[in-house]
Amino acid sequence: MVKVAVLGYGTVGSGIVEVIKTNQKLIDERAGQEVDIKYILDLRDFPGDPYESLVVHDAEVILNDPEVSVIAEAMGGIEPAFTFTKKALSAGKSVCTSNKELVEKHGAELCKLAKENNCNYLFEASVGGGIPILRPLVSSLTGDHIDAVTGILNGTTNYILTKMDEDGSDFDAVLKEAQEMGYAERNPEADVEGYDAGRKIAILASLVTGKNASFDKIYTEGITAIRPEDFAYARAMKKMIRLLAIYREKNGAFYAYVAPAMIGRDNPLYGVRDVFNAILVHGNMLGDAMFYGAGAGKLPTASAVVGDVVDAVRSLGKTLPGGWVEEELELTDHRVRKKRFLVVVAEEEAETFLQVFGTCDKIDAGLKGEIGFLTKEMDEIAFEEKSSKINNVITRIRVED
Ligand code: HSE
Repeated sequence: MVKVAVLGYGTVGSGIVEVIKTNQKLIDERAGQEVDIKYILDLRDFPGDPYESLVVHDAEVILNDPEVSVIAEAMGGIEPAFTFTKKALSAGKSVCTSNKELVEKHGAELCKLAKENNCNYLFEASVGGGIPILRPLVSSLTGDHIDAVTGILNGTTNYILTKMDEDGSDFDAVLKEAQEMGYAERNPEADVEGYDAGRKIAILASLVTGKNASFDKIYTEGITAIRPEDFAYARAMKKMIRLLAIYREKNGAFYAYVAPAMIGRDNPLYGVRDVFNAILVHGNMLGDAMFYGAGAGKLPTASAVVGDVVDAVRSLGKTLPGGWVEEELELTDHRVRKKRFLVVVAEEEAETFLQVFGTCDKIDAGLKGEIGFLTKEMDEIAFEEKSSKINNVITRIRVED
C-alpha cells in the first residue's frame, strides 16, 4: 500500500480526493498497489466533510512521515508550495502538481532535486488541465523535432471570447460567470492579461527544448482590448478571435509570445470553443497533431494530477524522463516574425492609412464610423512604425494562419 498526502483542499485538492475515491479500484489496479490518502493539508477545518479526519494543519507531519511516498500538491502559488516541495523531494517523496506558477519558475531546479533523490516531480495538470500533453511530449514524440507549438491554453479567456462572439455578451459579465464556475484564477488578471497562458507556453517551450524558457521574457498581450465589434470583422474575414500562446523555432531562433489573434477556418484551433483548450504541435517528421479537451475545472485538472500520482507509484525509487535544465533558453524578439494585421481605423483616417500602408484589403464589417484593413505581411517593428503615423487606430489584431 502506498500512502499519499494531498496539499490544499480547495477546488483542485478536493477534486484529487474525489477522483481517487471514485476510481479507487481502477487506480489501485493501475498503480499495482493500493493508493491510500493518509493526510489532507489545509489551514482550514472541514466539519462534516467525509474526510475531515484526514485533515492536518502542519506540513511537517506529512514531510516527516516516512510512510508517505507520494504528495499531490494543489496549493497554488510559489510559497509555501516551493518550500514544501523541496523538502518532500529531498526526503525522496514524489510530488505531483497542478501548480503552473511553481513549475514555470522553479521546474528545472525541482526536476533536478527529484533526480538526485530518485523520485519524481510531475506536473501534467499544469498545462491544459485534463489534456495529456506533457507526457506525449516527453515520451511518444521523442523521435521528433518539435518546431512549433500553438495553444489555446486558458479556459477562462476562451470562454469569454466564445460568449462575446456567439451571444454578443459583455466582457465583465462573462468573466464573472467564468469565476463562478471555478475556471478563473483567484486574481483573474492572470487569465485576461495572458499571464496564465504565458506561464503554460513557457513550460511547453522548456520541455520541448530542454532549457529553461522564462515567463518573464515572454511577451504577453491579453484580451481586455478586444471589443464586441471586433467579432464582426472576424466574421467578415471568415475568421475567429482566439488568445494564442505561440512557440516557434525557426533557423535556430526561438520565439514565444501570447496574444489574441485572428485564425482561419483551416486552422484546427478555429473550432475550439468555451472553456476547452487545445494544443497544436508540429514535428519535423510528425507534421501536425492536436491535443484537445477540458483545460480547466476541478475534476479534469484533478484527473491529470491523479494520473501523475499513479505514475509516481508505479515508478517508486526511479526517476522518469522529462524536465529541463536551468540553462536559460534564449528567446528572440517575437516582433521579427512576419504576419498580417487587421487594423480598424476611424473612417476619416482611411485615406491616411492607405497612404502609409500602401494597398491593403478593405474589410467592411458594416459598422458606422470605422473601417478595417488587412495589411500585407510585415514584421511588427515595421507595423508599429507605420501605425504611429495614424491618428486614430481603434484596434489592431494579428492574423495567424
Ligand atoms: N484559470 C485557468 C484557465 C485554470 O482558465 O484556464 C486552468 O489552468
